[in-house]
Amino acid sequence: MINPFQFGKVVRDKQFCNRQRELRDLAITIKSGNSLWLYSPRRLGKTSLVVNTFSHIKEVKTIYFDLFNIRDSREFATKYLNTLTHELFTWKQGVTSILKNLSGHLKMITPTVSLDTMGNPSIGIDIKSNEVSQTLESILELPQKLNYSKPICIAFDEFQEVERLDPFLKNIMRSVFQHQQNVSYIFLGSKESLMNTIFSDAKSPFFQFGEKMKLDPISNSELTAYIKSMFRETQLKIKNETIENILQLSECHPHYTQYAAYVAWGLINQKIQQDENFKQIWLSRIIESQSDAFRTIFEQLNANQRKVLYALSDIDDQSILSKETMIKYDLPPKSTVNTALNSLLHKTLILKSIGSYRFENPIFKIWINKLYD
Ligand SMILES: Nc1ncnc2c1ncn2[C@@H]1O[C@H](COP(=O)(O)OP(=O)(O)O)[C@@H](O)[C@H]1O
Ligand SMILES: [Mg+2]
Repeated sequence: MINPFQFGKVVRDKQFCNRQRELRDLAITIKSGNSLWLYSPRRLGKTSLVVNTFSHIKEVKTIYFDLFNIRDSREFATKYLNTLTHELFTWKQGVTSILKNLSGHLKMITPTVSLDTMGNPSIGIDIKSNEVSQTLESILELPQKLNYSKPICIAFDEFQEVERLDPFLKNIMRSVFQHQQNVSYIFLGSKESLMNTIFSDAKSPFFQFGEKMKLDPISNSELTAYIKSMFRETQLKIKNETIENILQLSECHPHYTQYAAYVAWGLINQKIQQDENFKQIWLSRIIESQSDAFRTIFEQLNANQRKVLYALSDIDDQSILSKETMIKYDLPPKSTVNTALNSLLHKTLILKSIGSYRFENPIFKIWINKLYD
């Protein structure tokens, strides 16, 4: 039987747990033609949410584009043009007609068509180095110019990457997007500080462009029902206590919940009894599977960063900078603790919310804590 829990890829349909409110809110935004920026730390489910919302919308033409693996603004231009062409034209209308249509809208570039190794048509463009900005501009203008039969919504995933591609790209985007009547955008991002400079900084071209939505963990009750149903569908039984252990470990973070449930499912499928030893077996499976990666990370930390991490893994709601914590964990002076916290934040090993710090990865938290046992 195939393990029903999935991690590391977009989850769809039955694999996608609830998020009813977010699905509805996002659909309303898209259908009303508004733009939105969707923020959460990584692996909280942004891509899955957008892909699932898109799959239910018929009134609007939805297009997904990921900036993650793109090297520079030229590659962006070519890949984005290809995505638009594939989504907004049908190859049935004939290559000549598509090329003619494209050339009519794109200033100064002459697109060509070739077949890739799979036999799929792919658009090529030759961008002169002094014409990159104009080329980008005319490609970004394309969705509005094509007079598509429906409104269009385009999602840019990992949008924080836009800074790396070309410092001016976001200025060009904003100047084009603000005039488009028929096209809206969703910007997904996982680096809060970068997304804040892009969208909240009054000097940024995107200041006040679109609504904001922050994705939180999924509720405990929804995840409980989800885990139960996945087990039921695969004809295995999971005890309530095992579910509680999974959610306590994962802190309801969707990715880590899937991972912890995946390991539990594997053990239960192997007929390991859910008795008093089960939690220990399950937990060590999870931790061992990650420990090489954790060790590599740990080796790159200095003594103060290690101390601060351990303290964070051990305290509950207490502040890391409280007097008791500083004494109990033998922490260096406040300014040094702050330096360590900032570099741990920078490495995204920890996250900061409303003034308090927590681990990004709850499994790493347990690993660190056990290290000093
Ligand atoms: N609604 C959901 N239901 C179940 N699992 C989810 C859900 N959203 C995310 N996940 C889990 O988290 C992982 C990361 O999700 P993803 O959408 O790639 O997050 P992000 O785009 O925020 O990095 C998925 O592979 C899946 O294991
Ligand atoms: Mg994603």
